[in-house]
Amino acid sequence: MNNFDFCNPTRVVFGKGTIANLTALLPPNTKILMTYGGGSIKKNGVYTQVQKVLKGFDVVEFGGIEPNPRYETLMRAVEIVKKEKVGFLLSVGGGSTLDGTKFIAAASCWTKTEDPWDILLGKFQIEEALPLGDVITLPATGSEMNGGAVISRNSTGQKLAFISPMVFPKFSIIDPEVTYSLSPRQTANGIVDTFVHVCEQYMTYDVNSPLQDRMAQAVLKTVIEEAPKVLKDPCNYDVRANLFWCATVGLNGWIAPGVVQDWATHMIGHELTAEYGLDHGQTLAIVMPNVWHRFVDKKADKLFQYAREVWGITTHDRDDAIQAAIQKTVGFFRSLGVKTSLAEYNIDAKEAAEKVRQRFFAIGMEAGEYGKVNGDVAAEIVANC
Ligand code: NZQ
Ligand code: ZN
Repeated sequence: MNNFDFCNPTRVVFGKGTIANLTALLPPNTKILMTYGGGSIKKNGVYTQVQKVLKGFDVVEFGGIEPNPRYETLMRAVEIVKKEKVGFLLSVGGGSTLDGTKFIAAASCWTKTEDPWDILLGKFQIEEALPLGDVITLPATGSEMNGGAVISRNSTGQKLAFISPMVFPKFSIIDPEVTYSLSPRQTANGIVDTFVHVCEQYMTYDVNSPLQDRMAQAVLKTVIEEAPKVLKDPCNYDVRANLFWCATVGLNGWIAPGVVQDWATHMIGHELTAEYGLDHGQTLAIVMPNVWHRFVDKKADKLFQYAREVWGITTHDRDDAIQAAIQKTVGFFRSLGVKTSLAEYNIDAKEAAEKVRQRFFAIGMEAGEYGKVNGDVAAEIVANC
């Protein structure tokens, strides 16, 4: 196992009716900016629940944060934070609203350069950010228990990520009941995102970390078990609860310590979203099986283990087992109604490959566990998508 330094400071309050706990979690005598997205919280009753609890607090609202949150929108919130002397941010919504809120938290305190976009370009470390908490309404990103955020910029067509310990939520409220209102498409996207997060931290090469491997397998097996149930019965509390906790654990750092990570699927996926507007989960379902095919030799030990432990494939022929496991994975995504090729979205794979190549080289991206997925390799992968 490799060396590691691990800290996760987020307090998680999980379960039915937990939005009521906000009163005790929010700081008193502090102006709060409540952020939200395009209005789902007004349709499913979450806004009303939060409003009830916020009575007595000094609150300003900022709505309209888009899926794949936009720098241009978020900078308008930064102006409000400064003008209103906001001291705490409360995100109410999905991963996009929360990621956007993390950016607002860091950008509001940013003095290192004139443009907080430099946070995304990684020019300097974030040394200060406003404290934030959240009511998370979509199981997918793990943003509720990590220090990452992904932000898009209209003017440059970029979609970039930043990670900082300064933007871990102080608390996250997870009430699985608020996910009953998710559309089948968003439910499926969240399941794919959860699954792929775990694989990014698992499907690399062995460093003798059996505990982390088994934790990764446990999340994958739980997701595979619960997914068909949620499609049939979207208001089943236990199923929604299990899927939410899988999403949180999938990217809260617990399965990452000491292991080697990949993230090539995500980096390629972000470029496909930026270029073609596909949902985050949709891109992952297309790309990951092709990353596995491209690196099948280097990932063979883990793929074989995955075939046996996650899918119960018993054939002794390693190559056959690995191919069967990749097929099972594709089949799982398709069973959720998520497409697994660019052609199904009427996107020409060769053209997409060239676009991704240029985008990778423009930002100097080198992803994957060996750091070898540069523009050329990413283009090879996308050409097969
Ligand atoms: O905007 P509103 O009206 O709220 O509607 C949203 C949005 O249209 C809706 N929604 C959210 N909760 C709902 C709901 N609809 C009904 N009922 C609810 N309970 O769902 C739509 C998608 O929401 P969004 O927040 O965009 O989805 P998600 O949570 O999947 O976030 C995606 C973003 O997170 C980034 C992605 O790149 C993408 O930008 N990621 C963030 C990560 C992180 N911070 O660690 C890691 C991930 O790999 C990912 O890259
Ligand atoms: Zn993701």
